[in-house]
Amino acid sequence: MKKRIFSGIKPTGDLHLGNYLGAIKNWIALQDEYDCVYSIVDLHAMTTEYKSNELRENVFKIACNYLACGLDPQKSILMVQSSVKYHTELCWILNCLTPLSWLERVPTFKEKSQTQDENINMGLLDYAVLMTADIILYKAEAVPVGEDQLPHIELAREILRRFNSRFGDTFPEIKGIVGKGARVKGLDGTDKMGKSLDNCLYLYEDYDMLWSKISKAVTDTARIKKTDPGNPNVCNIYSLHLLFSSTKDLELIITGCKNAEIGCIQCKKLLATNISEELEPIRTKYYEFLNRPDFVNEILFEGNKKANLFAADVMDEVYKKIGIDHGFFKK
Ligand code: TYM
Repeated sequence: MKKRIFSGIKPTGDLHLGNYLGAIKNWIALQDEYDCVYSIVDLHAMTTEYKSNELRENVFKIACNYLACGLDPQKSILMVQSSVKYHTELCWILNCLTPLSWLERVPTFKEKSQTQDENINMGLLDYAVLMTADIILYKAEAVPVGEDQLPHIELAREILRRFNSRFGDTFPEIKGIVGKGARVKGLDGTDKMGKSLDNCLYLYEDYDMLWSKISKAVTDTARIKKTDPGNPNVCNIYSLHLLFSSTKDLELIITGCKNAEIGCIQCKKLLATNISEELEPIRTKYYEFLNRPDFVNEILFEGNKKANLFAADVMDEVYKKIGIDHGFFKK
């Protein structure tokens, strides 16, 4: 029996290289080894300001992105979080087991409470509990995510242990899986690449768009002129090369930069070319899927159905264990 994986992305806008390298690329690679459930977590998207008339469209676009990146519906379940009502039911049950102090300590909650101070809602505080419900509802054992999500996974481990120790062994232990792109920095060279910051490269961008942004990106700030030797280890362009370029290109850059044989422009052009080459087939497929809404919606429909069936069994077990017996009311 294969172990199960769960992971998801919020439909809050276009996907960037952080989402791709931190999450999706890993998801695709793990499809043969695990039984995977990949979700579009629309309920989590409601914790920050959003427009109700854009949410459905964003869900659809993310589904097209997953498929374009190589999510194979024959191997993995592609589903929308809100279509399986048990996520919120289980979240409530877990709420009643989770001390408030655990949630107030979560780094993303602390950060959002500062940056989003006009809308510090209960959903934001409860974010990690809903995430725990997402994962354990499918008895997942592994969660491929970027590094920023590890504190949430740690909390999920605590919550599920609480459930198991109070009601008996039900949920397996979970672990986070982080890959090579665990924390992709933005083009500013300091912050994490993120939708809320103007520092992203997006999956839909073609060479010209990529180049116009990469050409202005921060490099090794100590290298002023082309004749100055540079230090790839402190240069964000090099860290992106590590994720997109061949060994041959990497050798060329390390030697060329350290010996001032190549300048930042040449190095950046090579990066834009390599990123564009990897993204080109994804971009093409993305637009193809956008033009096949019936096909994509059918995949979501089937995925939601499979997810519901699996989750229903787990919830039967959960309700019995916590002392709620719905069978009692049947005639
Ligand atoms: P979201 O949409 O904020 O992020 C989706 C995924 O992208 C990764 N990521 C990054 N990885 C590396 N470098 C970056 N700059 C970068 N930016 C984003 C995130 O780590 C994440 O893996 N809370 C989740 C969504 C979620 C979820 C779940 C995930 C809801 N329930 C259950 C796993 C399991 C999130 O961060 O979404």
